[in-house]
Amino acid sequence: MSAEDPATAAHRTTEDRSEAGEGAVALAYPNIALVKYWGKRDERLVLPWTSSLSMTLDTFPTTTRVRLTPRHRQDTVTLNGKPLDGEPLRRVVAFLDLVRETSGRPARAVVESHNTVPTGAGLASSASGFAALATAACAAYGLHLDARALSRLARRGSGSAARSVFGAFAVWHAARTGHQDPDLDSFAEPVPVRLDVLDPALVIAVVDPRPKPVSSREAMQHTVNTSPLFRAWVASSRADLAEMRAALHGCDLDAVGEIAERNALGMHAVMLAARPAVRYLSPASLTVLDAVLELRRDGVSAWATMDAGPNVKVLCHRAEAGRVAGVVRAAVTADSVHVAGPGPGARLLEDSS
Ligand code: DP6
Repeated sequence: MSAEDPATAAHRTTEDRSEAGEGAVALAYPNIALVKYWGKRDERLVLPWTSSLSMTLDTFPTTTRVRLTPRHRQDTVTLNGKPLDGEPLRRVVAFLDLVRETSGRPARAVVESHNTVPTGAGLASSASGFAALATAACAAYGLHLDARALSRLARRGSGSAARSVFGAFAVWHAARTGHQDPDLDSFAEPVPVRLDVLDPALVIAVVDPRPKPVSSREAMQHTVNTSPLFRAWVASSRADLAEMRAALHGCDLDAVGEIAERNALGMHAVMLAARPAVRYLSPASLTVLDAVLELRRDGVSAWATMDAGPNVKVLCHRAEAGRVAGVVRAAVTADSVHVAGPGPGARLLEDSS
């Protein structure tokens, strides 16, 4: 019997298991930015111009299974049971290529992902999607990354996914320390917040669940390239982040809401100034904004934020979320109104066979 190098034996065992469909399943939740990310300084590495800060939700999770299939010559990717193609498929394959390159394992994969939130409707499905994919793919390919490195990897799939690696509040640094390798320097990390004192909820008004006509990826680059307001956005966003951190530290929901609302409106202003304009807000979005103003006049702490789509999320105290949801529902006969609280970070599920 010939002696076998233990490393080779271990590798062979792993490959054998791969033939049998080695895999992992992960779960991740979307996050909603209170200080937005809008604009990349490096498209390939997904490095943003500004740092951003978000709350990970406890609703609308994405579950993703990654199974290695070394005999296949291509990756197969399904979302809610339907095969992906075109640009969405290209993005997932490029992400898997990165995982293959980092792990040194060339095997192709079968990816099955299930979103419980409308996909591509400005409801952060790419954040939960790529956070779940990064978590499951790392486990399937045997890559052991700490949370920071996982956040960096998820960032390469979709910038906002870097934040969904963490639960509750997270800040994604455009550049943390000025490290000479910018890829290593841009990741998210948790922002400690006394959740019992802040007691935040987001009331999500789905005024239109259809996928957006222009992807956030395309729209943000168009904004960087053509909006004369972009420099001003970068400067004001930096100031917003510093104030937001202080407001969260002080558990001051009114200050958090005020900064979040002005930051979101600023992001939409900078894209409206792009040439041609990018407009995601619809008449129904503005009706919700009016309802939020009315709530504030009535003494309710309620503040709006909108992403790359017409749907509006209203930040308020959890204790008042029912009232806020009722007012929003009455204002727009929204398709559906959901109440979300702070949720957990991405994680592997037990069923990782
Ligand atoms: C408006 O993270 O979807 O939701 O990095 O190109 O995948 P890519 O963009 P993505 O953009 C999110 C934009 C936003 C604001 C935010 O989540 O910070």
